[in-house]
Amino acid sequence: MSECFIQPEKKLPVEPRKITQEDLSRSMINKYSGRYKGEWKRRSDDLYFNEEWEKNAAEAINQLIDKSFPQKKEVIILSPTANTATNEIGITKDLREKGISAKFIAGDIADIKPNFVADERDATPFLRLNAYNLPFNDKSFDLVFDKKGAVWHAAYCLFNDQYEKSGSRELLIKLLDEYFRVLTDDGVVVIDSMESLYVPGKEKEKIKRQQEGSTLSLLHKALEKNPDLAAVLEKKYDIEQIGESSYILATIRLKSKVVH
Ligand SMILES: C[S@@+](CC[C@H](N)C(=O)[O-])C[C@H]1O[C@@H](n2cnc3c(N)ncnc32)[C@H](O)[C@@H]1O
Repeated sequence: MSECFIQPEKKLPVEPRKITQEDLSRSMINKYSGRYKGEWKRRSDDLYFNEEWEKNAAEAINQLIDKSFPQKKEVIILSPTANTATNEIGITKDLREKGISAKFIAGDIADIKPNFVADERDATPFLRLNAYNLPFNDKSFDLVFDKKGAVWHAAYCLFNDQYEKSGSRELLIKLLDEYFRVLTDDGVVVIDSMESLYVPGKEKEKIKRQQEGSTLSLLHKALEKNPDLAAVLEKKYDIEQIGESSYILATIRLKSKVVH
């Protein structure tokens, strides 16, 4: 098994292939490791993605599973940009309380160790990976959960005309192709759609800097600015918000697979 595994002793529900040098360049690991070390995650979990958010997310995922995979005994979810995987652990617990059997495999490109306690380690394996080149066979997962992760980054580059620096204008297309490659035929990509709220108080300025759009709104803005790309994606995918009471998540599905 690859040295990229944080928990090499773990038996994964989906066996990955060996991760190679091509999958993970040191410069990419360093880029993200510097940017996302601890503080960003702690702060955004405190402010926005707290237990209440996790409960609402678990409910939305529960409804999605009911609708999309009513026959499945266990739903396997890949979270390829999980950082310390706190939300994945919280959502798994909430789903279990509802009697839903769902298993996350969490990963991230950054040099970050998830802070699991013993029983959480069992529930959520973690590995180092690159979302653009996932070390899994085709059709390995039911859901890909990408919260403020690689879709967000690709949309950000597109919206801010930074795609030349970051590789190519086709990043978003490449990324979705890769996500749908590892998804089963009825598989769904789940992204966040909650706008960060403004929280007044002593740390006003610091907090303000953390305000940013959701992945869904950034994606819409990026596509509005790039109508040719939007046309390509619109032909292929349906994007909609999910969850009955609180629209905090959204789904991206292949058009041919939309469930009514
Ligand atoms: C803004 S953080 C969000 C982390 C977590 N999903 C959350 O919502 O708290 C973005 C994360 O995406 C990771 N990331 C960015 N590009 C990636 C890629 N190509 N492959 C894997 N992880 C990536 C970063 O390392 C970082 O941990």
